[in-house]
Amino acid sequence: MEGLSPYADEHTLLSVGDDAGVYEYGGVVWVHTLDFITPILNDPYLWGAISTANSLSDVYAMGGIPLNALAIVGFNNCDLELDVFREVMRGAVDKLREAKTVLLGGHTIDDKEPKFGLAVAGVCPDGRYLTQSGARPGQLVAVTKPVGTGIIIKALKEGLLSEEDIGEVIENMLRLNDKASELMKSVGATSCTDVTGFGLLGHVYNICRNSDVGMRLFFEKVPVYEEAVDFVKKKLFPKGARDNHSFVKDYLRSELEWWKIILLCDPVTSGGLLFTFEPNKKEELEREAKDRRVSLWIIGEVTGERMIEVL
Ligand code: CO
Ligand code: CO
Ligand code: CO
Repeated sequence: MEGLSPYADEHTLLSVGDDAGVYEYGGVVWVHTLDFITPILNDPYLWGAISTANSLSDVYAMGGIPLNALAIVGFNNCDLELDVFREVMRGAVDKLREAKTVLLGGHTIDDKEPKFGLAVAGVCPDGRYLTQSGARPGQLVAVTKPVGTGIIIKALKEGLLSEEDIGEVIENMLRLNDKASELMKSVGATSCTDVTGFGLLGHVYNICRNSDVGMRLFFEKVPVYEEAVDFVKKKLFPKGARDNHSFVKDYLRSELEWWKIILLCDPVTSGGLLFTFEPNKKEELEREAKDRRVSLWIIGEVTGERMIEVL
């Protein structure tokens, strides 16, 4: 979008550059986002459901509630038969029902590489929304799902793992970020994003840059899938992990072994929320997470120095 200045009106509260756009009209604060992905699993039902959770996630990251969605579908009539496509849609429909989000319509094009996703519209009922620019030095940093899905999906595609081996990973990708969103709002989080394609460090970088702060993270506190550790040590990881590393490396300071950094740069599908909150809310957050059954890891702190340190 560099060098372009798209039209914006007085209702535009937030455009390009955050997890979603925010638009106010007639007193209602709307959140709009769009996401689609290529197949990550062989099971079309699971792919449809995970892609749906992934598309809804940006609304939850803004602190909003999704209300309705439009499907974006690319598939090749020859390769992907109609009943496979039906399974993708069945996964999407089930996940949308769980999120109480109405499917209003969609559009399909002929495409050699299948794609599925949604444009989602949601609202912030109290008018409040969270951006990537609200982090303040002294705050703590938390995440709500483990990282390493990119490495695991690559291992799956190379036949080194089967879908039966990674039940926990699939379950996490399927999980909506609705409860995590309520959790972070309940303790007054001031900045939030969801961990997806840029990997944990890429999304940490986005918050740091947008908030003009830094972060100190503790590798041992970051939740990672064991299988991903085994594969990354054997140099099996997607190209995206390296790209994400190039994206953050000028901002990064770490003496850790290469594979730990690559693991933290691994592109994530349908990851958890990453948010910052005041340290005096730590106990309340941990208690609320338990009550609401949201997984939670406090992985570091916000600093005043514009630098990501990984210890
Ligand atoms: Co996002
Ligand atoms: Co997105
Ligand atoms: Co159309």
